[in-house]
Amino acid sequence: MSTLIKNCRLLIKGKLFAKNILIKNGKIAKITNKEPKAEKVIDAKSNFVLPGLIDAHVHFREPGMTHKEDFLSGSMAAAKGGITTILDMPNTIPPTTTLDALEEKRRLAAKSIVNYGFNFGSTTENISDIKKAKNIAAVKLYMSYTTGDLIIRDFEAISDIFKASRTTIVHAEDDFVRDAVEILIKNKIRNHVHFAHVSSEKELQYAKSNKIKKQISVEVTPHHLFMDSKDLQSLGAFAEMKPGLKTERDQKALWEGIANGNVDTIASDHAPHLKEEKEKANYPFGVPGVETMLPLLLDAFNNKKLDLSAIQKLCCENPAKIFRIKNKGFLKEGYDADLVIADLEKRQAVRNDDLLTKCKWSPFEGKILKGWPVMTIINGNLVYDDGEIFDVKAKEVQYAR
Ligand code: NCD
Ligand code: ZN
Ligand code: ZN
Repeated sequence: MSTLIKNCRLLIKGKLFAKNILIKNGKIAKITNKEPKAEKVIDAKSNFVLPGLIDAHVHFREPGMTHKEDFLSGSMAAAKGGITTILDMPNTIPPTTTLDALEEKRRLAAKSIVNYGFNFGSTTENISDIKKAKNIAAVKLYMSYTTGDLIIRDFEAISDIFKASRTTIVHAEDDFVRDAVEILIKNKIRNHVHFAHVSSEKELQYAKSNKIKKQISVEVTPHHLFMDSKDLQSLGAFAEMKPGLKTERDQKALWEGIANGNVDTIASDHAPHLKEEKEKANYPFGVPGVETMLPLLLDAFNNKKLDLSAIQKLCCENPAKIFRIKNKGFLKEGYDADLVIADLEKRQAVRNDDLLTKCKWSPFEGKILKGWPVMTIINGNLVYDDGEIFDVKAKEVQYAR
């Protein structure tokens, strides 16, 4: 099967060029000025074309909480948002902390229409499973309280987990970021640590001003970039997540981190909970995000807050590099044909009714954004086309050794 995507505008060394992309058997076969013959032709209409986003932090809730989301609904929402690969988090029921739970999740994820990978959970007792777990992106370590009860406070246990995993993603809030860095330094651990959802100036400083900063990467979320604690007044529980929204000054520090390279990735931390659950007194923490991440960033581009190369680096290239995902994150010949066509001029409001996530609400509802994905192609297949979703199953990602 071959497809030609013609009239693309894509970034080459930081500048936009008009190109055609020939796809053969799910891979990018040629990026060219010519118009090679293909069985199918898609006209990108001179829109911006970027590699499909790799969202390294989603909670698709399967197994155990499929009333909130599952691999099909979550992946449909992701594809609509221009995300072509997700890495799922382990705080499901049961948690992904055993080899059996990992295999079960692998079986369930086969219904996903975006490519997928798994983060394996850590406990104080599962080091031997961590070492045996096959084809995982990273090990997730919770140092601070959040949804689920995977929390580890013992420094020795944390050090053992860092030692056992090539890459550990850490949920550490506030001073716990400093503790994690100190554990790495004190025990001379060389493995990589990725701090999930860094939300404050202080956390960013702890993560990036130390002598081992090369083995540390920082992720920020759209909600911490585009909302602050003032939004709690109007949104209440619908703006409550872990870590919580911070001050304007913290938000500014995250944007500075994007500008100066201290922020490495943006991930949605898509954490859907039903409206009814959020309306209860003891509501759960988390907000959905896969459908609004790219539109928010494209809107920020239109507002001159960051450039297109930065979006591509933070959402495509760097996640592929940090998690060593094979053949993804770049538009390159030989790479997987995962790509997004985005209309930078399209102006549209975020509307709860349009959302494909099972939770059917967004903290950004009503916000008018300029810049939207209009088509998503995954493994060479058209999966999202201007409001329409096609259920074509995707694949589990592979990692370089
Ligand atoms: C996440 C969830 O609901 O699973 N919640 C959140 O507020 N971010 C868990 C997490 O990422 O900490
Ligand atoms: Zn977390
Ligand atoms: Zn999360």
